[in-house]
Order: sequence, then C-alpha cells, then structure tokens
Amino acid sequence: NSHMKASDSELDDNEITSSPQREKWCGHQFLFKFQGFWFTKTYLETTKRVVETLKPLTGDVILASFPKTGTTWLKAILHSILHPSPQHQNHPLALNHPQELVPSLETNLYVDKGTELDGGYKNPEFLAVKDPQEARILATHIPYQILGDILNSSDCKVVYVTRNPKDTLVSLWHFLQKSSDVEKDPWEVGAAVDQFCRGVVPFGPYYDHVLAYRQESLNRPEKVYFLTYEDLKEKSKNHVRKLGEFLGCPFDQSEKGEEKIDEIVKMCSFETLSSVEVNKSEETSSVFPLPYSSFFRKGEIGDYKNYLEEKMIARIDSVTEEKFHGCGFMY
Ligand code: A3P
Repeated sequence: NSHMKASDSELDDNEITSSPQREKWCGHQFLFKFQGFWFTKTYLETTKRVVETLKPLTGDVILASFPKTGTTWLKAILHSILHPSPQHQNHPLALNHPQELVPSLETNLYVDKGTELDGGYKNPEFLAVKDPQEARILATHIPYQILGDILNSSDCKVVYVTRNPKDTLVSLWHFLQKSSDVEKDPWEVGAAVDQFCRGVVPFGPYYDHVLAYRQESLNRPEKVYFLTYEDLKEKSKNHVRKLGEFLGCPFDQSEKGEEKIDEIVKMCSFETLSSVEVNKSEETSSVFPLPYSSFFRKGEIGDYKNYLEEKMIARIDSVTEEKFHGCGFMY
C-alpha cells in the first residue's frame, strides 16, 4: 500500500509538469489541450461557449485566422468592403480600432465579464441581428477542426488569412512581450521556437490550423476564401476586388469601382492605420488585456531574420517542409 502511495504521488508530481493535456507556457500560465489544439484557460472556456451557442446566419462573414497572421488588417478590409463609407475624418477606421468594428468571438464577445458590459459589444446584444440585410462580421481563431460543423450549419461565408510561420511566430513573440505576465516570467525566443514547432501555442498547432481551412477552401471555394498575408501585400487591389465578389458585393467595373478599391487599400494599409490615434494608444481596451497599439508593430515580410538564429530558422523550415510541402502548400 505504502508503495502504491509513493508511486501515485510521483505520478501526481509528474502530471503537473508533463501531462500531455497541459503544458507550462509563458507568464506562469498553462496551455490546455482540447480536441488536438492548445488553449489558455480563458480561451478554452470561451471556445467551448462559442461551440455550444454560436449560430451563424446566412450572410454572416466569419474571419478566421491563426493569431498574428493579419487578422487586424482583414478586419479593416472586410469592414470597409461591407460598410462602404466616404473617405473623410469621420471614417469608421479613422475613429475606431479595427477590433472594435469587428469583434472576435472567443477573445471578446464570449468572454464572460459578469455585469461589466462595457462598450456594448461584450453584450450578447451585439450578436443580435438588427437588420437581417446587414452582414455581421465576426472574427475567430478557433480551428476548423473544432468550428467546422458550426460554420457549415449555415450559408455564412468564411475568409481565412494566414502568414509565413516564421513571421507569425516572431509577431506572436513580440506581442507577448507587451504582456505584464512576460515581465514576471520571460518567454525566450528559443523556447518560443520550440513550443511553436511542437504546436504548443494558443490555438496551435499553427500547421494543422492552416491546413484544415485551406483544404476546405479547395473543397468549397464559394464558401471559404483563403489568402496569405504576403499575397495580400503584393496584390492588395486584386484581393480587395475578389473579396468584394466573394462576399456578394462586387465593385463596379468602372473607374469609380477602381477608385473605391484604391481607397480601401490605402485606408487599410499599415501606414494609414498605424497612424490613427486610437491605434497608437497605449491604453488597454475593455475587451483585451494588451494596449491598442500592440496590434500594429512593423507590418513587414521577413522580419523574422532580425530575431531568429540560423538554427531556429532551420528547425522551423524543416517542420514547415514536412507539414506543408507534401500538401502542395509552400512557404
Ligand atoms: P508584425 O508583428 O510582424 O508587425 P494580427 O492582426 O493577426 O494580430 O496580426 C498582427 C500582425 O499584423 C502584426 O505583424 C501587425 O503589425 C500586422 N498588421 C496590423 N495591421 C496591418 C496592416 N494594416 N497591414 C499590414 N500588416 C498589419
């Protein structure tokens, strides 16, 4: 019996550090594994809440992405396409953070903050449809493997953006440097690379996340529009035009239509958005624990070269090759 007890407690100790269901992450936090993906405690709860209650409507647009791949940029673009607004100082994007125009399901809308319904959109009211003609745009980082059945339960459209894995990781690493948790418990770049490669980052594995949405976009291109951050940079106008068609509100094939596309590209560019007052603010919004400004850092391709050592690059590249190249998806 005493022997049994000893080994039980060994097991307990062991479980704390190496249980396959949870793993220590930065800021004294744990990540928890659920249906093959990793979540912080809060996002696991909100993800389950989304899966239990979300009922997308025909006409809804769901912006799906892995964190740090261009979500904020797409929020701005989708909002501009679906809610056209003349270019002036009262433009919605000149006054509001894209996060406020397009909230995220599991990080804003389904976070239970008790009675503190600040700003209105944590309020389930936001999810109520006032005008059935008006599309709701809702963002999410929940993987297709978990959200797919719900997305397929209605004729909503899905836009998925992704980004090359090294820039995604470096962007994530920078983002977390802004968190007070990391001040207490640093997340070294080396540890970040290791956890990213093993998939142990919020909403990871990144590779499984990307591949499932990509596969769905190949199966049903009318339902899922898949694009990359890099391609959006290179062919902004092209994507804005195609997104208009995809969302059922094509631009005029006239000079006027071209002008509108140009305006959207300019309004949503990193240069314009990162100079908007609210987007520069060091204040923290009521719905997210990091400052508004943390969603706009550098907005470049290839910044990973300034932060990752050769060995780290080689390790990520070999995982990328294994996961992506076999499926014909290159990075
Ligand atoms: P960097 O950290 O590499 O600068 P997300 O919105 O998914 O959280 O992604 C954030 C990344 O997108 C950050 O990348 C951020 O600077 C960049 N970004 C934000 N707005 C952008 C825009 N309008 N154009 C290009 N990149 C943008």
